[in-house]
Parts: sequence; C-alpha cells; structure tokens
Amino acid sequence: MMRLMREYINYWLKAKNRHGVHSPYVYDFNDKCLRLQVPEKAISSYSSYRKQLNRENLTIKVSDFGAGSKKLGADRKIKDIARVSGSPIKYAKLIYKIVNHYKPNKMLELGTSLGLGTMMMKLGHPKGEIHTVEGCPQTLQYTMDHFPLTRDENLHFHNARFDDFIERLDPNEKFDFIFIDGDHRGERTQSILMSLKRHLHDETVILLDDIRWSFDMQTFWKSMTQSENYNVSIDLFKMGVLVPRHHQATENFVIRY
Ligand SMILES: C[S@@+](CC[C@H](N)C(=O)[O-])C[C@H]1O[C@@H](n2cnc3c(N)ncnc32)[C@H](O)[C@@H]1O
Repeated sequence: MMRLMREYINYWLKAKNRHGVHSPYVYDFNDKCLRLQVPEKAISSYSSYRKQLNRENLTIKVSDFGAGSKKLGADRKIKDIARVSGSPIKYAKLIYKIVNHYKPNKMLELGTSLGLGTMMMKLGHPKGEIHTVEGCPQTLQYTMDHFPLTRDENLHFHNARFDDFIERLDPNEKFDFIFIDGDHRGERTQSILMSLKRHLHDETVILLDDIRWSFDMQTFWKSMTQSENYNVSIDLFKMGVLVPRHHQATENFVIRY
C-alpha cells in the first residue's frame, strides 16, 4: 500500500498534460483519444453487466494460471471474481477510447475472465474482430453463457493457456490492438510479449494492465520503456501503452489520466 502511494505521488509529479507533450503521436493520443467522450449507452451497458455479476452468488472452481488473486481461493463466487478482476470504470473507459480511436481491425485480449474488458472492446469498436483467451474453462464457460452483447462471427472466445494459444497462431497473423490482462508476474508477461513479437506490426497498440500491481511488474514496465522493441511508451499509472513505431525516435511519456 505504501509502495503504491509512493508510486502514485511520483507518477503525479512526473505526469504531463497535453500542453507538455511535443510528440505528434502522443499529443494525438492525449488530445483525441483520452479526451473522447464515452457514450452513456456504453457506460450503462458496462455498469449493468458489472451489477449483474456483483449479485451472482454462483460458486465455480477456478484454475488460476496467472499470479492468482491475492485474496481469493480456488472456489470462487462470481461476485467475488467480479470484484477483483474487471477494470475500474475509468480504465474500462480507457479500453473503449483506445479501440474507438484507433479502430483496430484485429484485437487480442489475453485474460478474458468475466468478459468486462472484452465488452469494452466490443462496444468501442463493434466491427473489429476480437480474440479473447482464458485458461480457466469454468470461468470462460460462465462468461460465454452470460456475455450480454449480441455475439457475432467477429467475437471469438478461446479456452487456452496464453503460450499455447500464441504458439498455435499462424506465424503471419498480426494484431492491431493487444490487451494483456492475465498473468501479473513481470517475467511471465515479458515472455508473453516476446512470443507475441512476430504478431505485431509497427502501429500495433499494446495495452498492459496493472503495471504497478507488484514491484516485479513495476520493474518489468520500466524495462519495457527502455526496450528497443517499443519506441513509444505511455504510462497511465494503472495501465501502460507500448507501440513499436520503429520509424520514429524513442519517446517515453507519463501522461496524466
Ligand atoms: C485479471 S483477469 C482478466 C480480466 C479481464 N480482462 C477483464 O477486463 O475483466 C485475468 C485472467 O487471466 C487468466 N490467465 C492468467 N494467466 C493465464 C495464462 N497464462 N493462460 C491463460 N489464462 C490466464 C486468469 O485465469 C484470469 O481469469
């Protein structure tokens, strides 16, 4: 808790608003993407699914492939999973804003859980193709049975471990947007990013959740901002954005969100 508070103060002191940003790419991100108004209809669909999950007393047996919840055991009530897994509304809106702004044709989410992130991706860019991957079969089954939006041929739920899913991808398959919200261990997340390398193009937007979840994730995020694989990094406190953009100079920004 103390670590997070210290981090937040550091973030706030470093973070720039749009006037302090001289990079065209990051200025556009700040000025157009972050300032986008999320329609009330989308917020209300998200909130009512969240409310529905928060009331669900059903218990399922969860196989947790990630770092696991710091608070829950293997038998979990849906309402308890909902409490810790989905992003707070501010960051759920961020997912909406990014996909609405960049209109990625092909999106990948690693870590479906109850589908709250998937929902924002679908609402933000309904025509985009979404692949969302979840290792726990019981969690995924619940989500597929209760996902409130009309399912179409562009929305694909996959029950697999991340590394198996990535290994099975066509080597030429590229994603325009990737949301990584699964294994919150720095080393594992780094290895997932490495295996995704051939599925990125220069403008692929990678959104990473919980970059300050632990000291380990914090160190990992820092190393990514210094990695030559991503010339653009944007720190938004809870989440971080990486974009290869090899044709431009390296830019690491901390942006007030
Ligand atoms: C924090 S939750 C995802 C939340 C979701 N993106 C949302 O916005 O509601 C993380 C999920 O990733 C899954 N997961 C973690 N590591 C995994 C792995 N290596 N392979 C497959 N699934 C994994 C967990 O089972 C868990 O359901």
